[in-house]
Amino acid sequence: MTKTSLLAIALALAPLSSLAAGPRPELQPSARFSVYGHGAAATPPMGWNPWNAFRTEVTQDKILSVAETIKRNGMQKAGYRYVNIDDGWWLQRRADGGIQIRTTMFPMAASRSGPPSLRPWTDHLHAMGFKAGLYTDVGRNACSQAHDAHSPNLPVGTVAQREIGLEGFEASDLATMFGEWGFDYIKVDACGLADFGEGSKALASATYREGRPLIVRADAQATDADKVETAYARVGRLLAGLNPDDDFVLSICPWGEAGVGNWGGRHGNLWRTSADIEPNWDSMLHNFDTASRRELYAGPGRWNDPDMLAVGLGEFDARHPVEARTHFSMWAILAAPLLVGFDLNHASPAQVAMLTNPEVIAINQDAAGNQGRIVFHEGDVQVLVKPLAQRGERGVLLLNRGNRAVQARVDAAQMQLDPGEPMQVRDAWAGRDLATSGAVLEFDLPAHGSMLLKVRGKPASGDATALGDISGRIHVAVDGLSGYSARPAEVSGTPRVDATPAGQPLRIAGTTYARGIGIHADSRLEVKTAGEFSRFQALAGVDDAAAASGGTVQFRVYGDGRLLFTSPALARGQAPVPINVDVRGVQVLELVAEAAPEAGSAAASASRASTPVVAWAHADLR
Ligand code: GLA
Repeated sequence: MTKTSLLAIALALAPLSSLAAGPRPELQPSARFSVYGHGAAATPPMGWNPWNAFRTEVTQDKILSVAETIKRNGMQKAGYRYVNIDDGWWLQRRADGGIQIRTTMFPMAASRSGPPSLRPWTDHLHAMGFKAGLYTDVGRNACSQAHDAHSPNLPVGTVAQREIGLEGFEASDLATMFGEWGFDYIKVDACGLADFGEGSKALASATYREGRPLIVRADAQATDADKVETAYARVGRLLAGLNPDDDFVLSICPWGEAGVGNWGGRHGNLWRTSADIEPNWDSMLHNFDTASRRELYAGPGRWNDPDMLAVGLGEFDARHPVEARTHFSMWAILAAPLLVGFDLNHASPAQVAMLTNPEVIAINQDAAGNQGRIVFHEGDVQVLVKPLAQRGERGVLLLNRGNRAVQARVDAAQMQLDPGEPMQVRDAWAGRDLATSGAVLEFDLPAHGSMLLKVRGKPASGDATALGDISGRIHVAVDGLSGYSARPAEVSGTPRVDATPAGQPLRIAGTTYARGIGIHADSRLEVKTAGEFSRFQALAGVDDAAAASGGTVQFRVYGDGRLLFTSPALARGQAPVPINVDVRGVQVLELVAEAAPEAGSAAASASRASTPVVAWAHADLR
């Protein structure tokens, strides 16, 4: 088709009004990689947190003895650096605005003249070679005050004295914690924004001030996502200002609510995607599922957090080595933070060996920071593939979620490797190469079993770099879905690598494409090209998964804010438009898909959820 006839189609299909109005503001190129960009989380944070073992029944001695164990048993060397304090460390808010530390829990804090300080605590951990973490809440009150009513370690005193959360004290509390006390990591919880509303259990005790909840769990409509985001954005800005050396980590903890999955990476380093993990198989699977389709949101400095590891507890204790290893492998392939939460003083040598396996940790800590993505899911079997920094290398997890033995397989194409070229396959847990032949790998997996591999081959994209192989360098600036709710991603759909948001193969006008990005319009992706590439090529089109009446989509490509390519308005069923643009020197490439509702279709424009699914197929950089 000639350029002129394409243009004619474009003019016929595009409602002039929408083009004349210009792009929606959030679809304008930002010319930057708009992630948080602060903090020290180039790879997923690793460490220990007392909550899953001790809840608020924690003392200085308990934490220290675990820290000493981590130092002695090889875990510190294996990468576990953060020793965190969770809920329970505070006694009350003082009249001068400071927080009184519960010195019965941390006698070290009282060892100085003047108000208690946790500086001796962080000094001690630093001297041991650790980083020190603390816990607070973005609202006025903390989670224990709502959910651990019988804890002996709740803040005491008047209603005001019990308000130990950040709200109203953001700047001074964070200055104390990071400036005076010297912490390196903070987990900022959100119960203060959720659990102290009218009719709540906590409020009935008459010891808390009522606050209109900004977060209503599992109810995206009643939740004020913008206000929650604003509160966390403020914390992120304050921390960046207080830590010019960027040696800190901000953990955002609204349990997958308030759309945090979409904005967490713009304001902090990790964000919870779900409710608290419980030490049982189903809870672990559920938490995994809330993160496992969000590979386009993670990357160096920003991680989906399906919660701390339950390894060592309940159905993952020493009597369940298969479940423990599978759980650990799942967190490893997701590039999830690795925060152990059991009393390591009681860890068996086998448990320590598991937690310190160098090749498994290397897959989690790989410098590219790509999150593993699901390439296969049928019945109880899932296969995830995580492109590693070394070209052609992938971490691969074959997973049996069910309680019957299964056979699982993965082929070269699913790993985005060239089936005609040899593959080297290594069993990551055993640390040994496997003899394989052919392009298909097959394994018997026992109930709840898994196989974690490192595979090396020739990339299916040849000499080019597929966007899917550098998902850690992609930021979903606008995802095309209004209001991601607390529902697991498989319900709401998210932009995906090599698949549509619903997990189907990418398909344009009847042709299936093995690789690319599937996303809804209206959307904007930022790709951190960092001046390393010379050309960007893709085939862009409306995916066959789009509704037949979905209107048209215009595709645009920008390099550092400069328009490099504009497509005609394309409808479902039309052939994809080839893109081939010069990106030499470009730091940030942006891919915009903007929908124009069909003329006269008020319903289509009113409901953004019905905007078309689009595919940036074979989107490669070279
Ligand atoms: C919330 C968090 C947990 C833990 C507790 C402490 O439930 O999600 O990880 O910090 O609060 O009360």
